[in-house]
Amino acid sequence: MRLFGEAQRRAGHGRDGVAAGMPVAFRPSPDTATQLSRVESRLRDVADTPDRRLAELALHGIEAGGRRLRPALVICAAMAIGGRDAVSERVIDAAAAVELLHLASLYHDDVLDDAAARRGRPSVNALWGNHAAVLGGDVLLSHAYRVAADLGAAELHRLSHTLAALCSGQVAESTAQFDAARDVAHYDASIRGKTATLLATCCWLGATTAGASPQLADGLGHYGMELGIAFQIVDDVLDLYGHGLQIGKPVGSDLRAGVFTLPVLIALQRDPALVELLVEGIDDAGVRHVARRVREAGADRHAVACALHHLQLAFAHLGDPAVLPEGTQLLTALGELVLEPLERMGLGAIRQPFPAPRAAAEATAA
Ligand code: IPE
Ligand code: IPE
Ligand code: MG
Ligand code: MG
Repeated sequence: MRLFGEAQRRAGHGRDGVAAGMPVAFRPSPDTATQLSRVESRLRDVADTPDRRLAELALHGIEAGGRRLRPALVICAAMAIGGRDAVSERVIDAAAAVELLHLASLYHDDVLDDAAARRGRPSVNALWGNHAAVLGGDVLLSHAYRVAADLGAAELHRLSHTLAALCSGQVAESTAQFDAARDVAHYDASIRGKTATLLATCCWLGATTAGASPQLADGLGHYGMELGIAFQIVDDVLDLYGHGLQIGKPVGSDLRAGVFTLPVLIALQRDPALVELLVEGIDDAGVRHVARRVREAGADRHAVACALHHLQLAFAHLGDPAVLPEGTQLLTALGELVLEPLERMGLGAIRQPFPAPRAAAEATAA
């Protein structure tokens, strides 16, 4: 499995062509880029409401961009079923709905995590306070459900269950704050809920709105779930080793919030004294120190190996003969792009050599 390079070439992002500080958008083909620009228009139309303050709140995050992974998944899943012609207005609406739900969750997440930056801009809570961020997230949710309501009852139900899973993952995470005894199974359950379920729903929605059978839509949903686990593990590694400018959000925010993620949990198994550094009020030097100890324990590489393993599990769900070959290619390219920031930030080396891959839930001290 080739993990870097090909997806970026297909996406037209030569390594030299990626501006430093700009997260790479998920556009695995020129066709996908065209369809994503339809989603952009839809997002702006939906959020540009007569109440100017609400419009300003909603448009702040929309206009900041983001990598648009979730709409890209909807579109690629639809194209995997019926090619370019399958990308109907319903598919564009589904893509807009998942992005609106995601953005709402980011507004609320930045309140929970007390995060000052998002998508390379000040977060809504940093600019206008927590009240504005909660209400801005609420209005985005109302837009998401309004758009999804026109898709049909099954689609609306799926989105609603997804939000409940997201909340449940976030609640689980909150209950384990500053708990150094948190185990990897707890982490795994939390990220499935808070992140991976939405990615599964994106694929399911794209396939369903493109006319896939329930079985086929479920298969692509499983791909999205595994991809989502890999995606969140990579995000958690970047929280330790990324650069704020390049990830568009603060580094070390998990440690500051007492959220002990996979690399830290694996490191704790190997270096129990690390617990003394995982304190409330940890400063930048403390974050760098923890990151160094995690690296010395080999836990960064182990976490990336887990992400790779989940990516392989994701690709294994693309075997249904009803998935078009171009769809398999697109969804594989999207998977490769999940790992791209590691390499772009000079962290690619931690992928190799990696220990025998295991699922995140099974990661234990070697
Ligand atoms: C951030 O998601 C939240 C996570 C689940 C890690 P993204 O990294 O996809 O955020 P945007 O949409 O590009 O801003
Ligand atoms: C985000 O989790 C998951 C959501 C449902 C919003 P994180 O707190 O790890 O995401 P970032 O790192 O702030 O984007
Ligand atoms: Mg956060
Ligand atoms: Mg969070």
